Amino acid sequence: MPNSKIELPPIVLVIFGGSGDLTSRKLIPALYNLFLDGWLPERFMIIGTGRTEMDDQDFKNLLYEKAKQFSRRNVEEEQWSIFSSYIHYMQVDPSNLHDYDIIKERISHIEEEWQSKTIRIFYQATPPDTVKEIVEGLKSASLTDLKTTRIVLEKPFGHDLRSAIELNRIVSEVFDESQIYRIDHYLGKETVQNILAFRFANALFEPIWDRRYIDHVQITVAEQVGVEGRGGYYEHAGALRDMIQNHLLQIMCLIAMEPPVAFNADEVRNRKIDVLRAVRNIPEEDVHLFAARGQYGPGWIEGKRVPGYRQEPKVSPNSPTETFAALKLFIDNWRWQGVPFYLRSGKALAQNLTQVIIQLKPVPHSLFSSSASLDWQPNRIEIDIQPVEGIALRFHVKQPGMNMQLSSQYMSFRYSEAFHVAPPEAYETLLLDVMRGDTTLFMRADQVECAWHVITPILNVWQSIYPVDFPNYAAGSWGPESADALIAQDGRRWIWFQPSEKV
Ligand code: BG6
Repeated sequence: MPNSKIELPPIVLVIFGGSGDLTSRKLIPALYNLFLDGWLPERFMIIGTGRTEMDDQDFKNLLYEKAKQFSRRNVEEEQWSIFSSYIHYMQVDPSNLHDYDIIKERISHIEEEWQSKTIRIFYQATPPDTVKEIVEGLKSASLTDLKTTRIVLEKPFGHDLRSAIELNRIVSEVFDESQIYRIDHYLGKETVQNILAFRFANALFEPIWDRRYIDHVQITVAEQVGVEGRGGYYEHAGALRDMIQNHLLQIMCLIAMEPPVAFNADEVRNRKIDVLRAVRNIPEEDVHLFAARGQYGPGWIEGKRVPGYRQEPKVSPNSPTETFAALKLFIDNWRWQGVPFYLRSGKALAQNLTQVIIQLKPVPHSLFSSSASLDWQPNRIEIDIQPVEGIALRFHVKQPGMNMQLSSQYMSFRYSEAFHVAPPEAYETLLLDVMRGDTTLFMRADQVECAWHVITPILNVWQSIYPVDFPNYAAGSWGPESADALIAQDGRRWIWFQPSEKV
């Protein structure tokens, strides 16, 4: 993750699933923006592969239309035409071993032309069940060299703990861990990376960052969108697998981890794993006390009528899949003993809001009368991840006037106000890190397995008990009542503050 522009060696990026959604919505727009910023190596080649028959020009045309829609910066024809000279297409069937030999020939050919060895990056942008065949195909064509080959794997990484262990075994038989880049795109978000800077580049917060001062932590990832035509995938995933197992647990690790001794891949990831390993196991008979699930029914979002989850394409009319999950976790170590971490995520909610609330404990003794402190609440730190990007500290001041009357106010920092540049998209950061060979922001095998371990009891119980109350929240609401009850049993409530309230 260094910020200076180191010169990159010649790179060939082979994307499996070249004609798919991920490539056109995320990968190509990210590469285009890296190109605009001058990050790409001088010798660079993108080979999109797929089963569809297409020539290079068809492929470029397809990507151009999507890039105009999804790139964070305007796609200018002149710039695009330079960038698109990197793009090529090959018809490849990932299940056919012979096709990997053809990929290898193509790479050898370009290496001859460039008179240079290349770094070969193989990107799996295909469904998860293709990982095995891709890994085996690369092995059969000897495209696995430790020094020059990297493989990028998209989530979901496994369907449960068992399948994740099996997948890790398959991949690690062919590739060394240092060659494997398991993506969790939340780790590439600026505001998520900023959690480390906030905690470890300031002396101010770390002394209070523990059980003595912090009452509890809330991590929310709320989305307004429903499943957006991804019913086929989502039916087998659900909110717990799709969001909590990866994105929310990773954010929790950044909030809870001990300071690493150095900012490098192994040190950072070791400290995160310490957190996951310390998460208290939830006995299956107690899952109802620690987790709540929900599924949206029809409702209204921003004035538009929205169908319920069970009415979405490719979703069963009796689907038990949760589109909302809330959890209470404890981290059994010295720093966090007794401090609950509440995590929740859901689709078709009232707002798009990703936020971490660090709720501090009340002052030990209040000097002020109850009438002076009507809206008094303990301090809290609010880390806004998206859509607003920033950090706010809620604290108390004396309201102007003759009496001592307290008022809660914000000290706040906004990325958009402090820096007048749009931050890079997560995929820009992550793709560049793969090119630079930096695995810090990627998931290590043991990290993925620990995260599955944390949610396994909940998965087991939810799979075995049919949710008779589904759908239990209306699209456009804040989720099911059971999630409110989960936190209310501890005498707390979810905090839904709008970033706009901090202006
Ligand atoms: C993906 C999930 O990992 O993250 C999606 O599969 C979800 O269901 C998406 O919508 C959210 O990502 P972002 O960056 O839009 O918050």
